[in-house]
Amino acid sequence: LKCIAVMTSGGDSPGMNAAARAVVRTALYEGVEVWGINNGYKGAIEDDMYKLESRSVGDIIQRGGTFLGTARSPEFKTEEGRKQAMANFKKHGIQGLVIIGGDGSLTGGALLSKLGMPIVGLPGTIDNDVWGTDYTIGADTAANTIVDAINKLRDTASAHRRIILIEVMGRKSGWLAMTTGIAGGAEYVLVPEVKYNIDDMCQELKEAYDRGKRYSIVVVAEGAGSAIEIGKEVGEKTGIDTRVSVLGHIQRGGSPSVEDRIKASMLGEKAALALISGLSNVVFGFDAGKVVSIDLNDAVHNQKTLDPELIRLARVLA
Ligand code: F6P
Repeated sequence: LKCIAVMTSGGDSPGMNAAARAVVRTALYEGVEVWGINNGYKGAIEDDMYKLESRSVGDIIQRGGTFLGTARSPEFKTEEGRKQAMANFKKHGIQGLVIIGGDGSLTGGALLSKLGMPIVGLPGTIDNDVWGTDYTIGADTAANTIVDAINKLRDTASAHRRIILIEVMGRKSGWLAMTTGIAGGAEYVLVPEVKYNIDDMCQELKEAYDRGKRYSIVVVAEGAGSAIEIGKEVGEKTGIDTRVSVLGHIQRGGSPSVEDRIKASMLGEKAALALISGLSNVVFGFDAGKVVSIDLNDAVHNQKTLDPELIRLARVLA
């Protein structure tokens, strides 16, 4: 292909910039024209796109967010919206598209590919819930942000002999909660994938306090329930002073970690090279430390499960 484009879509994640930068610089290195689409599918429909130069992606590898902007686009869910986007791509001579985003964004890519647009997807989400890849761009940075918060909450929990619940992102996926619960030494991790019993948890928390324990940290994935509600119940049932911290969108921002910068750069290069050489309808990700390609339809039609080893380990170490 002689002209490709890149977009970021859905929830932003730290490292999207590094990935887009790698796409742009690889394409230019290969002598291929490259366009940026602003605000994801919304910009594709509204014809909000422009040609990029090497300098367009200068000074962004260290930044969270996405210089292209992102959005969740309801219009793109309609056939009409997708046809409009295709017409805009055609007008500018765009022959292939790299989409950086999560499940929903890659599903959008699969729909565009049905209209004849060659698509390469890159998994960009803090949730780490894309099927076929161990890794998604931004999850490592978000996990580090959460662990930093857990460390701080632990200090004050211990000072006051309190239970602190921390609610982290993940509507359907407990990866963030589980990994940060283990890394942060949490006593309990509540995730949407595993049933839990609040009464049992309260009983154990109370017994631990009776034995002299100074504090407990409970990590709650947002998909497992509202930490505010659960915290209220825990406080009432244990009689122990309990506080709740909902971390929110702070988890999505910040300078990407080294892992996110490097892996996003590797994936961005692969995506551009694949598209240029005529390969499409794949998602690039990582498996056991190596870049792998996954069929786009497989990636969007399969549900990633939470590693049972992580669930087991969290129980053993708590
Ligand atoms: O998919 C990424 C994510 O951050 C989820 O963890 C979270 O549930 C959701 O996006 C929040 O979406 P929004 O930023 O649109 O409120």
